Amino acid sequence: MTLAEGGRIGFAGDLSICRILNGMWQVSGGHGRIDPARAVAAMAAYHAAGFTTWDLADHYGPAEDLVGAFGHRGEIQAFTKWVPPPGPMTRAVVEAAIDRSRRRMRTDRLDLLQFHWWDYADARYLDALKHLADLREAGKIRHLGLTNFDTERLAVIAAHGIRIVSNQVQYSLVDQRPAQRMAAFCAEHGIVLLTYGTLLGGLLSEAWLGRPEPGRADLATVSQQKYMRMIDAWGGWDLFQRLLAGLKATADRHGASIARVAIRAILDRPAVAGVIVGARLGIAEHIADNAGVFGLALDAGELDGLPRGRDLMQAIGDCGDEYR
Ligand SMILES: NC(=O)c1ccc[n+]([C@@H]2O[C@H](COP(=O)([O-])OP(=O)(O)OC[C@H]3O[C@@H](n4cnc5c(N)ncnc54)[C@H](OP(=O)(O)O)[C@@H]3O)[C@@H](O)[C@H]2O)c1
Repeated sequence: MTLAEGGRIGFAGDLSICRILNGMWQVSGGHGRIDPARAVAAMAAYHAAGFTTWDLADHYGPAEDLVGAFGHRGEIQAFTKWVPPPGPMTRAVVEAAIDRSRRRMRTDRLDLLQFHWWDYADARYLDALKHLADLREAGKIRHLGLTNFDTERLAVIAAHGIRIVSNQVQYSLVDQRPAQRMAAFCAEHGIVLLTYGTLLGGLLSEAWLGRPEPGRADLATVSQQKYMRMIDAWGGWDLFQRLLAGLKATADRHGASIARVAIRAILDRPAVAGVIVGARLGIAEHIADNAGVFGLALDAGELDGLPRGRDLMQAIGDCGDEYR
């Protein structure tokens, strides 16, 4: 099956990616038990439907091993991350981490390495990035990206002459912080955004429309628990129900689902190259519904009437500050 036009986009000059990436945090525990054989079989179904691009990380349980077992090198795009604990960022430390991901993913060269850093007061993130850029020159990494960096630090990195192609950030109809500073900076500097939390762990769907506020025990995954905290910071469950109702009305006008509208809305935002949608491999899938995103066109201003919550930039800070 091929995806409708608009399903793919050029990435960093020499890759073509699916604009909906399959997110693999969901295989790392806390989202239901993953059976490796079933997971690899499920990956084949995504691949066959045209969803060939994967988002993973060194710390997402077996994710890198699953990508290695799945194979199809050259046909898939596998974007991993390195999330190091604080410490010295020597060439040896950085290279050992990259070599480990290359071994696990059974590839000579990582398509994209997305770097995370916990503490900006520790400027050794610049050391790490310089070594990563050298490893790109050495052919072990094709492209260098970031995750959860704020706009201020993006500017610092650019000022050091380190070429970055992407930043992965939380972006949804609830968390619209990237629209404030991040997107404009990225557009100006040729950096694209890959977004997560766009479906709030599945809370942005018909399944939660009209339901009473869930307690922690009602939330099936750590992803839903994470985004429930975001809903609380944004304006709470009653306001969220009004958002769901507004999205349902829009979805009905298009014969679509709430999730489709929620993904389309973020795909249409400036600087966004792709939306990452978490995949509970072998447990649940939404391949056909999400393929429909590429046939959906929202009218200009169609979502303007949706309820708006608190300014999360004020409440939390810029992109990624919730991790610091
Ligand atoms: N860089 C970071 O710090 C960071 C942080 C979080 C996530 N991520 C990345 O982003 C990915 C996305 O994960 P997320 O936790 O943010 O979750 P998400 O993508 O907001 O939500 C994923 C869940 O949405 C549900 N879903 C998907 N399509 C649907 C549809 N068409 N209709 C109804 N429900 C649908 C599924 O629920 P069911 O499985 O229950 O059906 C799925 O498990 C992760 O896997 C990871 O790769 C990165």
